[in-house]
Formats: sequence, C-alpha cells, structure tokens
Amino acid sequence: MIGTILLLLFGSAVVESALGPWAEGSASGGECMCEAFLPNSTFPIGELILLESTAVEINYKLEMEISKVEIYEVKLEVYIAKIMNLTVLIKRMEDDPDSYSELHIEEVKIKIKQVEALIVELQASIQTTTTVLLSIREQISVMITVLTRLEITYDKNLVLVTRREYIILQQKLEECERRHNEIFNPDIGICNHSGIRRFSKPIISQLNANLNAGFKYGGWGKDSNPLPGSENMFWYSASSDTLVNTITLYSDYYKLIMREGFKTHELYVRYNYDWQGTGNNYIVRENTLYYQFKSPFAMAKFNMTSVNAQYKEIPSASTQFSYHYSANQNLDFAADESGLWVTYATQESKGKLVLGKINEQSFEVEEVWQTSIFKPSVGNTFMVCGVLYATRSVDSKTEEVFYTFDTHTERESYVSIPFEKFQESYVYLDYNPTDQKLYMFSNGYYVNYHVYFNHKN
Ligand SMILES: *[C@@H]1O[C@H](CO)[C@@H](O)[C@H](O)[C@H]1NC(C)=O
Ligand SMILES: *[C@@H]1O[C@H](CO)[C@@H](O)[C@H](O)[C@H]1NC(C)=O
Ligand SMILES: *[C@@H]1O[C@H](CO)[C@@H](O)[C@H](O)[C@H]1NC(C)=O
Ligand SMILES: *[C@@H]1O[C@H](CO)[C@@H](O)[C@H](O)[C@H]1NC(C)=O
Repeated sequence: MIGTILLLLFGSAVVESALGPWAEGSASGGECMCEAFLPNSTFPIGELILLESTAVEINYKLEMEISKVEIYEVKLEVYIAKIMNLTVLIKRMEDDPDSYSELHIEEVKIKIKQVEALIVELQASIQTTTTVLLSIREQISVMITVLTRLEITYDKNLVLVTRREYIILQQKLEECERRHNEIFNPDIGICNHSGIRRFSKPIISQLNANLNAGFKYGGWGKDSNPLPGSENMFWYSASSDTLVNTITLYSDYYKLIMREGFKTHELYVRYNYDWQGTGNNYIVRENTLYYQFKSPFAMAKFNMTSVNAQYKEIPSASTQFSYHYSANQNLDFAADESGLWVTYATQESKGKLVLGKINEQSFEVEEVWQTSIFKPSVGNTFMVCGVLYATRSVDSKTEEVFYTFDTHTERESYVSIPFEKFQESYVYLDYNPTDQKLYMFSNGYYVNYHVYFNHKN
C-alpha cells in the first residue's frame, strides 16, 4: 500500500514532468491501481541530442568568426592610420613640390598601392565572414524551428536548457554581426546610399509570446527612437482578431525569446477607458505606440511613459481600403531615419495610396504625397530614408518590393527586389532605422530581415 502511494507521488511529482500526463490512481475493492499513460510518441531524444551537438558546432564557428572580426577591427585601425599618414605626406608634397624628388613621389605611390592591396584583402575576408555569418544564421533558424516544434508537441520545460543555449548563440551572432557591420557598413542612421539593394533570408525567431498560432494578427520589433536606456528593448502585440488590445515590453532580445515581459499595457480597461486599436500596423517611438484608433477611426498615440492615449482624425482617410493580406489596415504607421509617417487611401483617389509625414510634436499630418498604387493590391509598405517601399506577393514563397516613392524628388518607380517569405501571408512589416532591419509578423511568428543598400562609389 505504502509502495503504491509512493509510486503515485513519484508518478505525479517526477515522472509527470518528464513524460506528460499520468492518470490518478484509482481505488477499487481496497486495492490501489496505478495506470500510466505514455504519450503516443515518446520524447525524441535523438532530436535533442542533435540540437545540442549543433549548438556546440555553431558556437565553435561563431568563436572563430568573432576572433576574425577582432582582427579586422585592428587591421582597419592600422590602415586608417596609414592612409592618414599618406594624406599628410601628399599635402606636404603639394605645398612644397620643389623639395621632393621623383624618388620620393615613387615611394609614396608604392605606399598607396600597398594600402590599396591591404584594403582589397580585408574586403575579401570580410565578405567571407558575411557568408559564414549568414549560414550560421540559417542553421540557427532551422534549429529554432525544431525547438519550437518540440516545445509545442511536448513540455516546453524539457527543452528549456537547449532553448537558452540557442538564445545565447543568437545573441553572440547578433553581437558579431553588429561589429562586423560597423566595419563593413558603418552607415546606421546615414542616408547617403541610393536605396535598397537586397534583403537577407528570413530570420525566424520563434512563435509569439502567447505560444499560440491562432494569434496571427500582431506585430513585434524595437523602439525606432528609443529613450536613453531602452536601446535593447523589444515590444510585442498580437491578437486572434484584428483588434489591438495589449502591448508587452521586454528589456532585451533574451527576455523576448524567454517570453518574460516587464510590462503589459492594456488598451481597454472596463469602466475606465477604451483606447483599443485595430489593424496592427503600428509603430513604437520614444516609448509611444502610434496606431489606428478603433472608435472613432483616427490615428492614435499611446504614451507608455505617461500611460495616456490621444487620437486625431485624418478627414480624408477612408476605412474602405486595406492591404492585401488583412482587413482593417487602413492607417499604416512607419518610422525611418527622418521620423514618423502614415499611409492610407482616400475615396477621392479611388483607393490609391497616400503618404503623410507626421509632425511628432503637434501630432499633425504636415505634408502629403499622392502615389499611383492601388492600396488593396499592396502587401504592405515601409519607409527608409524618406522613400516609401511597397510590397506585393509574387508566389506562395516569394514577396517583392515592386514600387518606390521618393519624397525628396517626388519620383516613383517600379522595381523588383524579391525576398523569401516564411509563410504565405503576413500582417506586419516595418523597417527599423536603429538596426536597419525589417520586422515581420507572419502567422504568429517573429521574422526579420537584414536590409542591404546600394552604395554609390
Ligand atoms: C498522437 O496521435 C495523434 C492521433 O493519432 C496525432 O494527431 C498526434 O500528432 C500524435 N502526437 C504525437 C506527439 O505524435
Ligand atoms: C606614420 O608616420 C610616422 C612618421 O613618418 C611613422 O613613425 C609612423 O610609423 C607612421 N604610421 C603608420 C601607421 O604608417
Ligand atoms: C510621453 O509622456 C511623457 C511624460 O508625460 C513626456 O515627457 C513625453 O514627451 C511624452 N512622449 C511623447 C512622444 O509624446
Ligand atoms: C556616407 O557618409 C559617411 C559618413 O558621413 C561617409 O563615411 C561615407 O564615405 C559616405 N559614403 C558615400 C558613398 O558618400
């Protein structure tokens, strides 16, 4: 008897956490019965072992790349010093040509050639690292997908340790990419490029914080103009319908992946206030959520510092035209290097997209541009450096930027910059100027892309 009770205790306390649901023991005719139901398929240890060994392998590759990036940083410093030396020397020669012989000039020319060769070599090694980092990223994405599947199918505590290892790997990778980008692409916040050249493959973080694939309406990302101290903060909001009810803040990427928010704001508090929004296409700036107010139809800002919302109607904006993939997306907010934007369509233009620049102080639309694209045929839009980019579906696996509108020149053009989709549809897409990435919410998953720009020579 005591043995059976112990078995029951053991069964519920220890084995349950490892194997899933156990039936309670049932007493009949003075006898204790203990039944155990094993799940129809036991936990695939093989997959976990593979995940573990891949983590070790990825870690090794990353360590190698990190040490290379450190070498690049040192080399770059040396080359810059050499170039500065040469610049000083050439200036001196120009100012006083008579004191320098042919030999001197030849010597300087050789030095210039040497530095050039070093830079070409550095560029080649940096390019190799770019390729390796991308392949590491893909490998991590694949493994995270396996992990997520295990989390959903089995108890997520069983893979918690492995999940942590992968988060650390992702952070290491992010840090390595950031340092690498600073050498290769030191232009965050700078707009002297001539637009987007291409996108990376999709980087899939995981299923949303609600761990619910039914939460397919939503968005995630970083503050596009963070308050000091909030540079690493992430936010997430989602719902099973197009309403916007809550937003959760995470102190950094690790906390987002661990689903440990530090604050959830409710936009609807019964008997108190109703600041609900709709349509998902919000943006966070200066700890303030800009979104489409549900009633009345208006643009709204919810200041998460003061916990207060205000709204302002755009008289010409219509509720009739949404984007291709989802309903209620009438106002779409975007943020770029130059501030805050909103797009919508009007009755007068028969559904063609209008772009407006928002003055963040007065919360007014201060300037508008009429585009020639029909909003319902557009997947989504985002802004980079004062240029509007519009997407559309190519096929179930591919999306493309097909249209751009440059607010500086007021010129529009039709282009084709394809990118791979994670799932057939998505409801949220926005660029973040602080890290030059595109953030997408695709059927409940956090997805992002690196953006690569054209650089004029
Ligand atoms: C258990 O069996 C059901 C029905 O046969 C199946 O749908 C489910 O995927 C199985 N679960 C696992 C973990 O294999
Ligand atoms: C720069 O020039 C100075 C003086 O000519 C020299 O001592 C120094 O080594 C040079 N630095 C580099 C990086 O070439
Ligand atoms: C949000 O509220 C705080 C505190 O009242 C204020 O200092 C800040 O400027 C507000 N932010 C925006 C974007 O309006
Ligand atoms: C862009 O600006 C940065 C910083 O001002 C400068 O270093 C870089 O050379 C510029 N690039 C081009 C192509 O003008």
